[in-house]
Amino acid sequence: MNILVTGGAGYIGSHTVYELLESGYNVVVYDNLSRGHVAAVDRRAVFVEGDIRNHQLLKNIISNNTIDAVVHFAADSQVGESMEEPSKYYNNNVAATLALLDTMRDCKVNKIIFSSTAAVYGEPSNWPILENMPTIPTNVYGRTKLVIEGMLADFAMAYGFEYVSLRYFNAAGALKNGRIGEDHAPETHLIPLILKTALGQRKEIGIFGNDYDTEDGTCIRDYIHVTDLAAAHRLALEHIINVGGSRIYNLGSEAGFSVRQVIERAKAITGIDFSVKETPRRAGDPAVLVASSARIKEELGWQPRYSDLDNIIV
Ligand code: UFG
Repeated sequence: MNILVTGGAGYIGSHTVYELLESGYNVVVYDNLSRGHVAAVDRRAVFVEGDIRNHQLLKNIISNNTIDAVVHFAADSQVGESMEEPSKYYNNNVAATLALLDTMRDCKVNKIIFSSTAAVYGEPSNWPILENMPTIPTNVYGRTKLVIEGMLADFAMAYGFEYVSLRYFNAAGALKNGRIGEDHAPETHLIPLILKTALGQRKEIGIFGNDYDTEDGTCIRDYIHVTDLAAAHRLALEHIINVGGSRIYNLGSEAGFSVRQVIERAKAITGIDFSVKETPRRAGDPAVLVASSARIKEELGWQPRYSDLDNIIV
């Protein structure tokens, strides 16, 4: 099977490319390198630098490589930036995905795995979060992903598309052999920032808010190892190729850790007592986001294998 991976030079994309190659798929990575790194793309994959809005180039790549299905990561994904530059997010996420779907339609490729996010739920009032709970995003990033989920449902109904939308909780960790990992610029995510602080590359780690309605007052998140996310993409592909039909799945470890707990575990594992500073809340952060991943476990047999917090930090 020939798979096109958009955004395959990015964090979750490059780990999924590795997983697909290891499972025997032929992979073409299509990435405009606005955020990704060509060095993160496994050499066994074909790499094409391009934008998904470039209809002619994408069409050529899809037909020349007889692509069977698309795994679509290419997107902007910073919550804070999305609030300051919504136009960029509607362009790079919504408009670009529409262009991709139209090109797929022209090429008669109708199977797609989509990177969605827990940000589609907004501030849920119950945990764990199930896929059928209300989706009321509190930021532009989450809203763009929800609009795309709607587009996928409409393309499925009208044009026979089949899709799996994967709503990631907090992706973290790196490939076990250390060859690829998380490399954002700027980095905004808690675990890499903690590790940079432990390494002495930052003066201190800030705790964004200590007055949330949680046991220790800091936000609780569900950290899921990127290798477990990659495996879920492989299973989702097998599902649309072998069984068919469209699905939406949460992907989390189903365990919640507070910011303070993550910092304490990182101090214990590294043996470094780095400096921590309590600062005001960051705008738009929900207090608790913890997944139920029961649906994907039951329907696709997915099981997280690496998502223990200590394993993620190590
Ligand atoms: N945090 C700090 N200090 C920091 C960085 C983060 O206290 O220096 C806190 C945040 O306030 C939050 C938690 O650590 O409570 C996790 O923050 P991240 O920035 O690592 O991740 P988010 O939960 O904000 O967002 C991530 C992805 C989003 C996705 C969301 C879904 O970046 O794209 O998970 O759960 F939408």
